Amino acid sequence: MFFSEQLISEIIEKNDIVDVISDYMSLKKSGSNYMCLCPFHSEKSPSFSVSSTKQIFNCFGCGVGGNVITFVQKMERLEFIEALKFLADRAGIEVNDTKNEQQLKKLDFYKALYRINQETARFFYSNLNKSKAPMEYLKGRGLNDNTLKSFGLGYSLNEWNSLMNYLRQKGYSQELMQKAGLIAKSEKSSGYYDKFRNRVMFPIIDLKGNVIAFGGRVMDDSKPKYLNSPETPVFNKGNNIYGLNFVKKQQNIENIIIVEGYMDVIALHQYGITNAVASLGTAFTENQAKLLKRFSNEIIIAYDADIAGQSATLKGLAILEKEGCDVKVLTIPSGKDPDEFVRKEGVEAFRERIRKSVSLIEYKIDNAKKDLNIDNIQDRIRFTKEFSSILKDLESNVEIDAYIKKYSNIMRVNEVAIYAELNRLKEKHKNGNNKHNIVNNKDAQEKPKNGELIAEIYLLNICMSDSNKAKNIFNMLNPESFTHSLNKEIAYIIVNKLNEGKSLNAGEIISRLENVEKQNKAARLLSYELPDKELDVLIQSSIDIINKSKITRRIEELTSKMNELFQTGEKDKANEIFNEIKELQRIRK
Ligand code: GTP
Ligand code: MN
Repeated sequence: MFFSEQLISEIIEKNDIVDVISDYMSLKKSGSNYMCLCPFHSEKSPSFSVSSTKQIFNCFGCGVGGNVITFVQKMERLEFIEALKFLADRAGIEVNDTKNEQQLKKLDFYKALYRINQETARFFYSNLNKSKAPMEYLKGRGLNDNTLKSFGLGYSLNEWNSLMNYLRQKGYSQELMQKAGLIAKSEKSSGYYDKFRNRVMFPIIDLKGNVIAFGGRVMDDSKPKYLNSPETPVFNKGNNIYGLNFVKKQQNIENIIIVEGYMDVIALHQYGITNAVASLGTAFTENQAKLLKRFSNEIIIAYDADIAGQSATLKGLAILEKEGCDVKVLTIPSGKDPDEFVRKEGVEAFRERIRKSVSLIEYKIDNAKKDLNIDNIQDRIRFTKEFSSILKDLESNVEIDAYIKKYSNIMRVNEVAIYAELNRLKEKHKNGNNKHNIVNNKDAQEKPKNGELIAEIYLLNICMSDSNKAKNIFNMLNPESFTHSLNKEIAYIIVNKLNEGKSLNAGEIISRLENVEKQNKAARLLSYELPDKELDVLIQSSIDIINKSKITRRIEELTSKMNELFQTGEKDKANEIFNEIKELQRIRK
């Protein structure tokens, strides 16, 4: 496949970087830029900046940067050409694609799986009124028509082949139905049967809006209560989060509440808590944490209070914290789950629980002291040990002191004893693994080293903001005058664009650079904040600095040449050069 420069420009132009990044992250406007948490490294406060005017992104935390293509490459893990194809598709630009047959087959296969799932969801939805039971069940659980529709809930008929027959009549092959996990082969006969029967159905939708799987619930007490689609090429449980597609559509998400079940998500949404998602039963994974973090850094876990829920909470917490999230735990009294609680107690009571959610440390401490009898010495010793082991992970001494004060009182244990235990644990920890203390503290934002370099960067950034100013600059200055090689390369690209009468756009300029490393650096250079000065003044002073530096270098050259000539006795020639130096010094003033 060949992408001409013109085609690449078109692709960049038609994929506004702010739009594209908004498909993945929730951007907040900040001055003339947009900011969010960096999707490429763990952080707690946003240092990932996207410029709409320059069409580039840049993270001040980890140093990644680039244009819309670089972003898609990193985010979707694509090669350059694949990213172009991706963006061309996104913008509806035709490219004559010469994928090999195998790749085409794979793409078609995925599309076919999305289509068959979509068709199935429609079928289940249309079944809702074919018998009384499903509507009665769903209404009985408090769901209204609007909710049923927006979550696409449905019903799988109490028959062995209704879905299979429906899909066959729509032209789908048995093989595809099976690969989508919708039908299964009978063990006894050679036939197939519908996997989901007589269940209310919950379609699972990915971030692009594709139906990728289903969950189905029985309407009585039979087992299994829930049946989920098996893993398929388009459905990997650990990589998806139920309800995130709804959260994605919202602006300025403050936090995300993660609950256990489908019904919890749906009930909360119906009550206006639209930032609830579910991890779908299985253990919470690192990929799910990464996915959540794209949308918000503050995650509130609202799992069931039973033993399984508690252990899931702790595991989930650990994973989310490792990704750099601020995690809190929401507990619901009386062993209800969020669905039951919000329906019985109302949404205000639930909001109160959100406000009262506690940090990981307090959650752990609360757990450690639950069921203990403070009149029992053994229990108090147990608490001291557990408590110290929880505190040892804290970095702030102020925090440690505060917790020790609070809980030594409540639990009637000696403060000094806790400190002693804590020190013992910390010593042990230190000797055990030093490796973890190595922090990757690479200074991310490349600071220009001298005046000349800064002047060059100012000029390039001014060019990005105003083509007319760019013309003025390069009427006065030859790109060859740029000393830093990347600056020079960018300057030449700018001059070429100006000569062709084209507009300037940082994102596009970056794409002309040959490798990702350069593109990264260029994005950083072109994201530089200009000082708050009149642009023309800044241009003039920058050009002066560059010209003067150039002259200074020439003077240095001539001086050493002059010295050489003196030493070899060629005084006339040396004098000639001396005059030249004097002339240059005069100009430089
Ligand atoms: P309701 O009884 O409908 O309110 O469900 P719940 O969400 O309160 O159920 P529970 O807390 O038991 O389960 C939470 C989540 O775990 C469900 O939404 C399912 O995703 C999953 N789950 C529960 N039971 C089963 C099961 O029997 N099999 C499978 N595969 N998943 C289950
Ligand atoms: Mn429930």
